[in-house]
Amino acid sequence: MILVTGGAGFIGANFVLDWLALSDEPVVNVDKLTYAGNLENLSSLQGDARHVFVQADIADGTCISQLLSQYRPRAVLNFAAESHVDRSIHGPEDFIQTNIVGTFRLLEAVRAHWGTLPAPEKHAFRFLHVSTDEVYGSLAADEPAFTETHRYEPNSPYSASKAASDHLVRAYHHTYGLPVLTTNCSNNYGPYHFPEKLIPLMIVNALAGKPLPVYGDGMQVRDWLYVKDHCSAIRRVLQAGQTGEVYNIGGFNEKPNIQIVRSVCVLLDELQPRQDGQPYSVQISYVSDRPGHDRRYAIDARKLEQQLGWRPAETFESGIRKTVQWYLEHPDWVAHVQSGAYREWVQKHYAP
Ligand code: NAD
Ligand code: TYD
Repeated sequence: MILVTGGAGFIGANFVLDWLALSDEPVVNVDKLTYAGNLENLSSLQGDARHVFVQADIADGTCISQLLSQYRPRAVLNFAAESHVDRSIHGPEDFIQTNIVGTFRLLEAVRAHWGTLPAPEKHAFRFLHVSTDEVYGSLAADEPAFTETHRYEPNSPYSASKAASDHLVRAYHHTYGLPVLTTNCSNNYGPYHFPEKLIPLMIVNALAGKPLPVYGDGMQVRDWLYVKDHCSAIRRVLQAGQTGEVYNIGGFNEKPNIQIVRSVCVLLDELQPRQDGQPYSVQISYVSDRPGHDRRYAIDARKLEQQLGWRPAETFESGIRKTVQWYLEHPDWVAHVQSGAYREWVQKHYAP
């Protein structure tokens, strides 16, 4: 089996769902259930013995150690993190605690466990750390995309805390020989995305008749990847990646924010037009810029493509259509997230 941390969040939940749709290898899912953790994302796995959910903090070394000896996973995949840049600007403490201290404690527990394994298990074991392109900093319009050897130049408390975690993971390989893999991925979008991030926020605000807040001039560029393509890349790296190596994951899909927002509006105009016949774009509202806002991220994913044969399956056009359709088909999920009712799921469905 494998042990996944942060598997009730956006990417982690998509990963667990896809993993169990493709194989019968069980998953132990360790998640603290912060505001971003939502067990409703995994409601289709209710009663499925292949999914073991444990509410715990990755910084709880005793608990993690106990889970490792109980389940003896062949791999640990670390998705758990505080992930929202704007929140990191308003309150960096949790980012330091989870992304840095939490990753450190997790690494310590994994290192101790790995040291006790018999040779074949020890050899096959993997620790895969899920990270972000934001650790590389911001690019000018004419600069080449980030490769794996780009300097680390994080600019927000979020990206600085992720950068620190990446360095710890690297150090555990170089110092202790821990068989680690690190992936640095660009911006994801897709089902179960918490509506504080750009794409889901625009969809839910548009449908609610609220303003669509575009920071600054809206010309900041991100490289967008459909979440299921991120999950397939992680599976591929876990399967065939070289330990100690870093793999960049991207969508070959750079777009300025305003273009993303306009694409969402156009799709909604088609799929669920406003009752007054006006286009959703009338709701676009330019607001003050994010402090220290990175201008451009772009990922060069050719290493992953050339060495491990991975390519994204979705174009931006196909992925964004699926995403908008998913939000239109899941009004209850959106309503529970907005009302906070999703946080009661754990009491209702997992109470002893
Ligand atoms: P998310 O915020 O949606 O989910 C994070 C999950 O981690 C939540 O379920 C939360 O409850 C859990 N968690 C937080 N602190 C924890 C702790 N101390 N112990 C255990 N669980 C904890 O984030 P996401 O968008 O799914 O991102 C997952 C990972 O992918 C993160 O490491 C993030 O840095 C990375 N990443 C995200 C993106 C993106 O576009 N969302 C892109 C590249 C990399
Ligand atoms: P976000 O989804 O928060 O991801 P990240 O900051 O990790 O890239 O934001 C994506 C881009 O969209 C980023 O340039 C900030 C911008 N943005 C807005 O313009 N308005 C918004 O309301 C949000 C949440 C983000």
